[in-house]
Amino acid sequence: MSSAATGPSRFMPPQGTEIAASVDALYEFLLISSFISCVLVIGGLIYFAIKYKRQSDNDKTPYISHNVMLEFLWSFIPFVIFMIVFVWGWIVYHDLRKMPKDALEVTVIGQKWDWSFVYKNGRKMAGEFVVPIEQDVKLIMTSRDVLHSFFIPAFRTKQDVIPGRYSALWFRANKLGTFQVFCTEYCGDKHSGMLAKVKVVSRAEYEEALASEPYKGLAPVDIGAAVYKARCLQCHNVTAEKNVGPGFKGLFGKQREFENAEPVVADENYIRDSILNPNARLVKGYPGGGMTVFAGQLSEEELMGIIEFLKTLK
Ligand code: CUA
Repeated sequence: MSSAATGPSRFMPPQGTEIAASVDALYEFLLISSFISCVLVIGGLIYFAIKYKRQSDNDKTPYISHNVMLEFLWSFIPFVIFMIVFVWGWIVYHDLRKMPKDALEVTVIGQKWDWSFVYKNGRKMAGEFVVPIEQDVKLIMTSRDVLHSFFIPAFRTKQDVIPGRYSALWFRANKLGTFQVFCTEYCGDKHSGMLAKVKVVSRAEYEEALASEPYKGLAPVDIGAAVYKARCLQCHNVTAEKNVGPGFKGLFGKQREFENAEPVVADENYIRDSILNPNARLVKGYPGGGMTVFAGQLSEEELMGIIEFLKTLK
């Protein structure tokens, strides 16, 4: 299911939830009422400018008093429109922020520069997560480093993700499909690449995805390639070229020089240590450190996978 569901609007992303439709309706009202106001004001201005253009040097503007009815209307009508927008906006916002009871809860962890997801049964996903259709889902979110923001345009909902505390958002997807997730708070070099996907599937498919072993039947090197794609790609190239961190090509088996330690050969243990505790030894040329600590985040299977994957990048 790779194609995203399509909504009726040509200007907005697909509508993946009921709330998305109500956000769009409000937005359309704003757009149309602003357009009509703009036409009335600018049109009136042009009309009167032409109608009352000075005809001769002797033209004199007559004394104009006021018009109570006109002044009342041009104040009262906009007031009514603003109140409609305010009340309508308040209702939609309230729906967006009122957390449902008995929702399916998924923990979301943001870090430079990826998203990972943890389900109640311990199943972890990275870069993509799965939810059942027509089910209230509550995301409980935190960050391991800086401020991020979790945004699903198709669901018209976003929420800041903050280190040291939890924030939440909820949605109830009513369309099957895969929808894009963005980070929408500038969080460093690779902010624009901090992406994920939400897959809305049937309940049966959801149960199956949750019960399945994530890397069933995959060889370690393929597991490594998958983990690389989800967790390492933002900062490390598969070429030797420098990115935020060192390129991976030719890294395995090579002598590594450090800013703050004796050189060592990049063997299995070195790779493992550098992933789990990356800031203990800082590679020469990268004195800032700052790589996310992956201790507790990757399974032994995933670590082995990455090591095998690195070995193939000769
Ligand atoms: Cu995370 Cu921008």
